Amino acid sequence: MPPKRPGAEALWTAVDGYFGDLLAPRDERLDAALLANRQAGLPAIDVSRLQGKFLFLLARIAQARRILEIGTLGGYSTIWLARALPPEGRIITLERAPHHAEVACANLSRAGLLDRVDLRLGRALDSLSELHASNAGPFDLIFIDADKPSNPEYLTWALKLSRPGTVIVVDNVVRQGEVLDAGSSDADIIGTRSMAELMAAEPRLSATVLQTVGAKGYDGVALAVVLN
Ligand code: SAH
Ligand code: DHB
Ligand code: MG
Repeated sequence: MPPKRPGAEALWTAVDGYFGDLLAPRDERLDAALLANRQAGLPAIDVSRLQGKFLFLLARIAQARRILEIGTLGGYSTIWLARALPPEGRIITLERAPHHAEVACANLSRAGLLDRVDLRLGRALDSLSELHASNAGPFDLIFIDADKPSNPEYLTWALKLSRPGTVIVVDNVVRQGEVLDAGSSDADIIGTRSMAELMAAEPRLSATVLQTVGAKGYDGVALAVVLN
């Protein structure tokens, strides 16, 4: 008898563990951040280890020196992105929930990254408008990972804060395939679909979607570059 095959989700998680251990090995600071997030009661919606490494690699490939993140949570993805920066590089990360921001601050401090991270507390749409007004752009990489209903607006702001070559990543665009439901009344799905249609219609963007499976289930990321 061949060994019993795990169910699909268990298999994806095991493969995530196999490649994670090889290519994105655990370290004290990342583990401490995840532990602190769970102990503080934050939802377990941080990117996975391999997804964090993917963001790190995108930032390195783009040679990013200025990164914008929308949706900090406990700063797990922020740590991956900040680690990809050169010493003079900076990441601005936007978070609405004071409790999340507090936990993130402690995690980033423990990770020795506070000098590279500028955490802005408040509604992301307000912070984005302030960033634009103060000429904070252009950013080299923008990671959109906050409330999904606002994704069309976040994409529009991302374009305003970009230059040709800017990489834009939008998390959670597949949502177990629910994105296919054109008649959905779920605001997350409506926001995701509008964002995708905006992306498709925008002549300044060239984009694709990568479907993902793993420890975080079945989802996907949209990846776009701003054209000349
Ligand atoms: N990028 C994180 C996960 C972010 S979860 C990681 O992978 O580790 C989404 C976060 O967006 C939550 O912390 C939530 O509080 C925040 N958020 C939701 N709506 C927001 C808004 N309007 N403005 C700013 N942050 C928001
Ligand atoms: C949710 C949000 C996320 O950013 C994520 O990575 C996974 C799930 C959510 O709102 O359910
Ligand atoms: Mg996400």
